[in-house]
Amino acid sequence: MRIAVLKERAADESRVAVTPETAKKFIALGAVVAIESGAGGGASISDEAYREAGAEVGPADATLKGAEIVLAVQAPDPAVLAAAVNGAWVVATFDPYGQRDRVEGYAKAGLEALAMEFMPRITRAQSMDVLSSQSNLAGYKAVLAAANAYGRAFPMMMTAAGTIAAARVFVMGVGVAGLQAIATAKRLGAQVSATDVRSATREQIQSLGAKPIFVESVAGIEGEGSGGYATEMSEEYQKAQAELVSSHIAKQDIVITTALIPGRAAPRLISDTQIASMRPGSVIFDLAVAHGGNVEGSVADQRVERHGVTIMGFANTAGELAADASALFARNLYNFLSAFWDAEQGRPVLDEEIGDAVRLTRGGEVVNERIKG
Ligand code: NAI
Repeated sequence: MRIAVLKERAADESRVAVTPETAKKFIALGAVVAIESGAGGGASISDEAYREAGAEVGPADATLKGAEIVLAVQAPDPAVLAAAVNGAWVVATFDPYGQRDRVEGYAKAGLEALAMEFMPRITRAQSMDVLSSQSNLAGYKAVLAAANAYGRAFPMMMTAAGTIAAARVFVMGVGVAGLQAIATAKRLGAQVSATDVRSATREQIQSLGAKPIFVESVAGIEGEGSGGYATEMSEEYQKAQAELVSSHIAKQDIVITTALIPGRAAPRLISDTQIASMRPGSVIFDLAVAHGGNVEGSVADQRVERHGVTIMGFANTAGELAADASALFARNLYNFLSAFWDAEQGRPVLDEEIGDAVRLTRGGEVVNERIKG
């Protein structure tokens, strides 16, 4: 079993799908691990470190030749993988809803695409969940980036020259990224409030010492929602939420938005009028900017000034912490493949529940129910 890892092809991608630690573990399972020279550069991992772990390091063609499994952070154009064996597995993130053509391309190329974003949210798959591992780091980085762009301090400071008030931080969307954003802002000394459509997050917000801000007049999603995810809310709810946000946001210094709905554009949570009500110098960090954005006017990788407020967001927030993000991503992939490793066949054999959930293409067809048709 040859496992190949290429240098990521997307321009903004600094992460890598295997680390020396996971290369060693795959080799211990009996696999050969081949890595394109320079693949770890963005994550501060040298070719030498991979060689020391027992991996082959070389040019892309030699790396891919005969590969039965290809690991990547972002799935490359399938044409790049022509040297892999027919029917090879490609284990990566695919953005299956956004990049439908690429999924078709994988089917046509006869590759078996396994999308890590579609890992089911069940207890035994928690250690395989790349959305969680990457969102956690993204939530942390969003707060640091916003703090950096903010012309004031986060903690309350009593100095001989007078007192500085604590920054007020509002986190919208309390999933994995939002929880980490709350925790990070609290650690920096801010006064933190947060909101979500899922009622289960109220206690989580309180347990981190932040203040929950919830729509009370219209029912949100009771409990966790389907598989932990939110759905699109009714017009009535959206209106009530907009009113609540309008009154709260005018008093905030920093807003971090993280709201996502699988398979849909990110919900619009902040309008230009609401931005205009904030104090000049405030900062909004839109973590959903790559998925359409929660904030009117946000542009990936740009700082937009509107009404004296800075609006920002990265196309690839976890990639800003490439070393840690790669370490966790690589472990997610190893946890996934090793959990299904069949020692006799010397390869992973997926079960139905997880296999059917993550498999996008097989035998020349798109086979995943969530994106078929
Ligand atoms: P996500 O990235 O899909 O969305 C982020 C947050 O935005 C969610 O909390 C969502 O409810 C919220 N949101 C959506 N629309 C909104 C709106 N209009 N206004 C305000 N907030 C809105 O979610 P994420 O972070 O991937 O996880 C959601 C939950 O899934 C977690 O809190 C956890 O309970 C569960 N989970 C379970 C796992 C497992 O069991 N393996 C692994 C990871 C998460």
